[in-house]
Amino acid sequence: MRQKPAIAALRSMRSAPPAAASAVPVVARLSANENPLGPSPKAMAAAAAAIPTMHRYSDPNNTALRTALAAHFDLRPDMVLCANGSDELILLIALAYLEPGDEVVMADGTFVSYVMRTGMMAATQKKIPLRNGAHDLSAMAAAITPKTRMVLICNPNNPTGATNGAAEMHQLLAAVPDDVLIVVDEAYIEYATRADFPDMISELRGGRANMIVLRTYAKIYGMAGLRLGYALGDPAVLDYLSKTRPVFDVNALAAVAGIAALSDTEHLEASRAQAAEARDLYVERLTALGLTPYPSETNFIAVPLPAGVSDAAVVAAMAARGIAINALGAWGLPGVLRISFGTPAENILCLDALRDILAAQ
Ligand SMILES: Cc1ncc(COP(=O)(O)O)c(C=O)c1O
Repeated sequence: MRQKPAIAALRSMRSAPPAAASAVPVVARLSANENPLGPSPKAMAAAAAAIPTMHRYSDPNNTALRTALAAHFDLRPDMVLCANGSDELILLIALAYLEPGDEVVMADGTFVSYVMRTGMMAATQKKIPLRNGAHDLSAMAAAITPKTRMVLICNPNNPTGATNGAAEMHQLLAAVPDDVLIVVDEAYIEYATRADFPDMISELRGGRANMIVLRTYAKIYGMAGLRLGYALGDPAVLDYLSKTRPVFDVNALAAVAGIAALSDTEHLEASRAQAAEARDLYVERLTALGLTPYPSETNFIAVPLPAGVSDAAVVAAMAARGIAINALGAWGLPGVLRISFGTPAENILCLDALRDILAAQ
């Protein structure tokens, strides 16, 4: 059968190696930026209560969830579109807006889905090197041409954890033509600490039509396995985007758990506090090893290894001890490790193992 070259060129997840390429069972999974506290008890109770009715399709419009999210953000419900994870929204956005050869401006060293999904549409990727782990927004603005259709920004950035502030973000927004879509992926925003973190939702409230903000329940809300994400944006933009979406996209358990999770500020605060404590520990201990991690405002940290030390070898040695972390070569950052924060005990285990492994290099 004829294959589409842009899709055939993608790496198949079916042939991807297991998370830890080792026979040793994983004792600390610090590779997927999940919340070690687990989901909110309120979200669990809501999902459990919906189990007896899961023979019914969910509401295709997700009216209750969108209404709850709209109230949470002081937006109108038609400015919210829910999907089966924000990763799916990245796919749908690429599908909805890109033709072969269209230019997409993104960072070099950001979330891999942007590369995969815009690549899938045979778009031309203009990858702009990071600056101290964050997007170089002025260089990204300068890379825009009449062929540019989309600018993708991950703030805070995965995999470095670094952020961009409001002033530089507003300069970028001013430089992007009205007919170019700006996608701002804020998967980790709840962990961000800087006082001048850009408020993109107020841009949407103010009527900006060429921007989609992406959020997820997979990170601080601890619901990665349930699959729930959403886009915030202009009603007409989301209406158009929704045409690409499978009808019963969000599962019934996620739809009710998502509403319940929004009310659990205690879980949110505890998750934020645990990540902040872990971040301090990692910064202190990695610095003591002579390493200079990227400035993280997330639930993970990225750290360049000393010159000549193989990231793949370190990741394999960690996996042999049952600790799953990531090497960022495939993300455009060779020689850099990314470690998701775990429980306090997992973090100590990881840092002790890393110290010993690096000492043996
Ligand atoms: C920046 C970023 N965006 C989107 C996603 C996808 O999240 P979801 O689980 O909602 O699909 C991730 C997951 O790691 C991410 O890091």
